[in-house]
Amino acid sequence: MNQFAEKLINWQRQHGRHNLPWQTSDPYRVWLSEIMLQQTQVATVLEYYPKFINRFPDVQSLAEAEQDAVLQLWAGLGYYSRARNLHKAAQQIVYEFGGQFPQQRIELERLCGVGRSTAAAIAAFAFRQPETILDGNVKRVLCRIFALDGDTSDKKFEAQLWQLAESLLPKNQNDMPVYTQGLMDLGATVCKRSKPDCTHCPMVSDCLAWAQNRVAELPRKKSA
Ligand code: ADE
Repeated sequence: MNQFAEKLINWQRQHGRHNLPWQTSDPYRVWLSEIMLQQTQVATVLEYYPKFINRFPDVQSLAEAEQDAVLQLWAGLGYYSRARNLHKAAQQIVYEFGGQFPQQRIELERLCGVGRSTAAAIAAFAFRQPETILDGNVKRVLCRIFALDGDTSDKKFEAQLWQLAESLLPKNQNDMPVYTQGLMDLGATVCKRSKPDCTHCPMVSDCLAWAQNRVAELPRKKSA
């Protein structure tokens, strides 16, 4: 196992977030949480997620619902295209995939509202697939640890970040859920955009931005 993955996994086990209601290998529950968490903070999602699961406990019940019932449960979370895509994707799973979530990231990307990083999160959490997430938090973590000063909105630089993130995956697929949660937890609780908590970071001895005193300036803001 590479050192990055090993350190991150050990740190997640000791200091990461546990007992979140979507920490399960049920792809329906993982998918629902990832869609809610795309543009909404954890604290808010924790209020809405159980209500949604109670009303629609599985993908069949969601697929059969009226769109209005789905939108009503979504009220307060905002970005309502997410709810419409969620409903459509549930119907895709039931009617195109025979009610079973596909396990491959590429297949998951065919679902409405599911991009590469969300597909990778579902594949990693539910099916232990060796796929990396790359959301805004993970981009920031990588730019700092490797002191990369590319523009994260630049497509070429983003492609390099995907490659780098893939190269860091743990060797043991059984570690994919804890590793993926570790990436999310590090970005959300330690390697924050403002006031990063470097003294509590498991990667500080490997962090090039820290060594070069450039944590505050990375990732680089896109130039106009
Ligand atoms: N943000 C996106 N996915 C998340 C997850 N699984 N746990 C916590 N925060 C997240």
